[in-house]
Amino acid sequence: MATTTRRSAVEPIKARRTREGEAAPWPVAFYRSAVGKKWVMAVTGIMLMGFVLTHMIGNVKLYLSREEINLYGEALRDIPGHLLPRTVFLWTIRLGLIAAFGLHMHSAFSLTVLNRKARPVTYQSPRDYVAASFAARTMRVTGIIVILYLIFHLLDLTAGTANPDFVRGDPYNNLVRSFERPLVAIAYIVANLALGVHLFHGAWSIFQSLGINNPRYNLARKRFAQGFAAIIVIGNVSFPLAVITGVVDQACEGTAIESPCPASGAFGEEN
Ligand code: HEM
Repeated sequence: MATTTRRSAVEPIKARRTREGEAAPWPVAFYRSAVGKKWVMAVTGIMLMGFVLTHMIGNVKLYLSREEINLYGEALRDIPGHLLPRTVFLWTIRLGLIAAFGLHMHSAFSLTVLNRKARPVTYQSPRDYVAASFAARTMRVTGIIVILYLIFHLLDLTAGTANPDFVRGDPYNNLVRSFERPLVAIAYIVANLALGVHLFHGAWSIFQSLGINNPRYNLARKRFAQGFAAIIVIGNVSFPLAVITGVVDQACEGTAIESPCPASGAFGEEN
């Protein structure tokens, strides 16, 4: 009897140790620590910043011509030519980004919970307050706006279910038709301003999270965060504005494709 009682008293301790990470593989154990979560948030943040920047630069092709931006969308599906079956590379990137997005949200959420447990009264260091007070305080709100925006954006321009005039393989048509709806254009502008605020604090915090926190670099960190956020916001807000103001329209004037514009997409059906 006594032996049974002693064994059952030991077992829960073993289970707790495993949950706390002692027996877990090191990446999992690392992620369970606050420092690990900060690293994951920073590294996935860098990946997402890379995506947002290249995506914005790619969309600038909207100003070149209908053909240019449509060929760009087609090229993304076809990378790296005949080396892999079509869309395999694109799907690899997509899965990587989905994983990065999931980990970014999970680490942010877990760190918030940890911070609240460790410090129930909100405290902000004077340095953070000066550098990024408004952005820092609104990270959760701007993050949620970006998630909601992304869901609508994918339904609007990738799946096409939120865009009645969607034509598969014709991003030029889809963008112009989408932004011709004033409420949608305003939603894109507001969401991208929120993204800018989120990026500003995120780009500033990356260095802190990775342990690069010498006050000597504060001004450079601030300028980098401001510059990065400004480039993304100016680029992304310009697209709906260009359509609302008629700078870019459905008539295809000045584009490489002769009028009248082709009614349907010239490219394949795959996403
Ligand atoms: C006004 C700014 C933006 C414009 C004009 C724009 C435009 C587009 C277009 C045309 C597509 C479809 C591409 C295609 O199927 O060929 C697309 C897809 C996508 N966009 Fe955006 N985008 C903007 C901002 C953003 C932002 C800020 C994010 C992230 C926060 C984002 C994330 C995505 C994602 C994840 C996809 C799916 C890419 C894929 O096919 O895997 N976009 N966007």
